[in-house]
Amino acid sequence: MADFSALARTYGTPLYVYNFDTITEQFTTLKEAFKARKSLVCFAAKANSNLSVLKHMAKLGAGCDCVSIGEVKRALFAGIPKYKIIFSGVGKRDDEIEEALQNDILMLNLESEEEMKRVEIIASRLGVQARISIRVNPNIDAQTHPYISTGLHENKFGVDIESAKRMYIHAKNATSLDPVGIHFHIGSQITELQPFRDAASVLANLLRNLKALQIDIKFFDVGGGVGIRYDNEITISLYDYAQGIFTALGGLDVTLVCEPGRYLVGNCGYFLTKVLYEKNNGYKRFVIVDGAMNDLIRPSLYGAYHEIEAYGKTMEHTTLCDVVGPVCESGDFFAKSIALPPMEHDDILVLKSAGAYGFTMSSNYNSRTRVAEVAVENGSDRLIRKRESFEDLIALEKEYV
Ligand code: LLP
Repeated sequence: MADFSALARTYGTPLYVYNFDTITEQFTTLKEAFKARKSLVCFAAKANSNLSVLKHMAKLGAGCDCVSIGEVKRALFAGIPKYKIIFSGVGKRDDEIEEALQNDILMLNLESEEEMKRVEIIASRLGVQARISIRVNPNIDAQTHPYISTGLHENKFGVDIESAKRMYIHAKNATSLDPVGIHFHIGSQITELQPFRDAASVLANLLRNLKALQIDIKFFDVGGGVGIRYDNEITISLYDYAQGIFTALGGLDVTLVCEPGRYLVGNCGYFLTKVLYEKNNGYKRFVIVDGAMNDLIRPSLYGAYHEIEAYGKTMEHTTLCDVVGPVCESGDFFAKSIALPPMEHDDILVLKSAGAYGFTMSSNYNSRTRVAEVAVENGSDRLIRKRESFEDLIALEKEYV
């Protein structure tokens, strides 16, 4: 895909590299699968909110699904039109609701009656009508990691069908609310088709009931969650995914909205880290690298697998090792018991499928500066986020010392 040694030399390590052509391909496949109906693809910014990534999404015609006013503002700044921006999330502050309404975005996805009350009060104070959608929790098991499963009643997300009906009826009669959408999101990294089919059919039935009550829902939002291949997962076909949703919708006249994050950017991303040295304590071999859990937390947090390539090395004389970073936690690892050849100082390891929930979940733990990000497009590369400096680290504190 790219010359990772050259990129590491030019931009330093650790480093995130994103192939924008892969994003384009993924987006095109998705749009193609949905082409039989009106659709709006709202990229879930939480997966990768770099401004250049969002700008690329805007160019492709995507909208944005945001989970904080910060993400809404990023999307607007990157050129995503306001009428393609959705604001989701289980808890929104008053000031966030106010700013979203002032920015006149497409809709707010609501997750409780209490939240709807706040939106109603704020919209009425501002003298606007808030376009809303309700996230319905269909109580369906997405069969994925418990931390990223959201569609069961035991999860904090959304409302049950009966509460949703009550909320829609209230919203229809409220002057400052305009119920325009219906929404579900049952989890992430889903590799089975059936949970999507089941959820779509539960919501389509509710939608039919709402239409019978003259509640005119225009947007059917199926959330995100389509899984990608990290290892040897068998992923779902986008065509079957779309067909499953179409079947549930039947003749209903709605615009299909989806909120993919990982599907669009997961496999476009690579995390480059350099070997500092090897250490063998007599029990175990450790390859110690300059990247760490603060840069890419998925292995530590979920036990997630990211394929690791010893870049430019032949896989000879391999032995098992743990790949670990410099952070002072035993949980700071990228892989355990993987086979690697003998590694030397400055060798490069490439962690694959790191485009989603990589940089966005990074932190400054251990006062480590956040890494740089690079885009590769049409065979050329460019910096899209500078590596943080020590000055950046202390900028918000130094005046108080
Ligand atoms: N829409 C909503 C309302 C969401 O909560 C999410 C993700 C998405 C869309 C996008 O889901 P995707 O298409 O990316 O599966 N940090 C975890 C993933 C957390 C997902 C949270 N919500 C990870 O690294 O696996």
